[in-house]
Amino acid sequence: MDLKALMQRLGGLDAEAKRAAAEARTADALRAAETRLMKGPIAEALAAVKSLPAEQRAAGGKAVNEAKSRVKARFAEAVEALRRAAVAGDRDAAAAFDPTLPGPVTLRGSVHPVTAVQWEVERIMTGLGFTVVGGPEIETEFHNFEALNIPATHPARDTMDTFWLENGWLLRTHTSPCQARAMRRFGAPLRVIAPGRCFRYDTIDASHENTFFQVEGLLIDHDISIANVIAVMRLLLNEVFGREVKIRLRPGYFPFVEPGFELDMSCEICGGRGCATCKQSGWVEVLPCGMVHPNVLRHGRIDPEEYTGFAFGLGLTRLAMMKYGVADIRVLNGGDLRGLVSAARLGGPAVVKGEGKARS
Ligand code: PHE
Repeated sequence: MDLKALMQRLGGLDAEAKRAAAEARTADALRAAETRLMKGPIAEALAAVKSLPAEQRAAGGKAVNEAKSRVKARFAEAVEALRRAAVAGDRDAAAAFDPTLPGPVTLRGSVHPVTAVQWEVERIMTGLGFTVVGGPEIETEFHNFEALNIPATHPARDTMDTFWLENGWLLRTHTSPCQARAMRRFGAPLRVIAPGRCFRYDTIDASHENTFFQVEGLLIDHDISIANVIAVMRLLLNEVFGREVKIRLRPGYFPFVEPGFELDMSCEICGGRGCATCKQSGWVEVLPCGMVHPNVLRHGRIDPEEYTGFAFGLGLTRLAMMKYGVADIRVLNGGDLRGLVSAARLGGPAVVKGEGKARS
């Protein structure tokens, strides 16, 4: 290569460097392209200088050095441009980020409103010395009826139609069968509550379901009277609602209590004015109760001459409806979370189940 050819070659390098710098998208790519030019054409040009006639070498060397500086400068400029663009991008992103916007919402699961009320009742009643017991949902006819003073021929059976199994057992119609079980198991004196699921062959409407929850209460001791029932019921309701609840007591008939009462509370859905939930009466039957019938004590192997007691059958599902303002019982048994979630938010102890987008 003579000096002229060398100069031409060096002249082309500028365009090459420009193109390579423009194509590279990252600092690494820029460095690689620069190295390629340095090790390739620049190194070749330097080698060519050595073979130039002596009087041309100085000019050739100078030209190569200048070309090398230009290439270096071109790439340094490109690296700087990349850096500036990155900083500007970050600034734009930072400006677009609004820290005051709400973040992704964590969907919080909670216990079912009925469970929440059940736990509340358990807390209150265990505070009064009651023990929480359970019982089977599939019962024998004896425990569901006979032991409760409802023999086969008794018309009260008609009010508790249910689902029968082929072996003569049935889905319990109330939690009262837990009474005989508890009496036989623990004897007297006795304080138990038995929460659980019950079933009836009922026509479904705003306040009736074929599956619902009750809490049975049973207290047996010396000298127990109606005054004790009323006092405990009042305390229970006032505690659950956190204020004085309006109640009324009226006679009620249940073969397993004598005397028996219906304890109603003022309907929380309509404020007592009358609605579908309270069948336009302004009152909701939540707490049937009474003094345990001597026959029931006898079935439980407890001497009615020595002991008396009271029993109640709190309608847990209805209590949950009153507490959380759920106007229709079907919401509580249904799979649509919207009504349940808003009810649970009002009071159910929340349990974090997972994360996701809130739906309501
Ligand atoms: N077991 C009755 C029912 O389900 C309620 C009740 C329980 C009444 C205890 C009195 C005493 O209708």
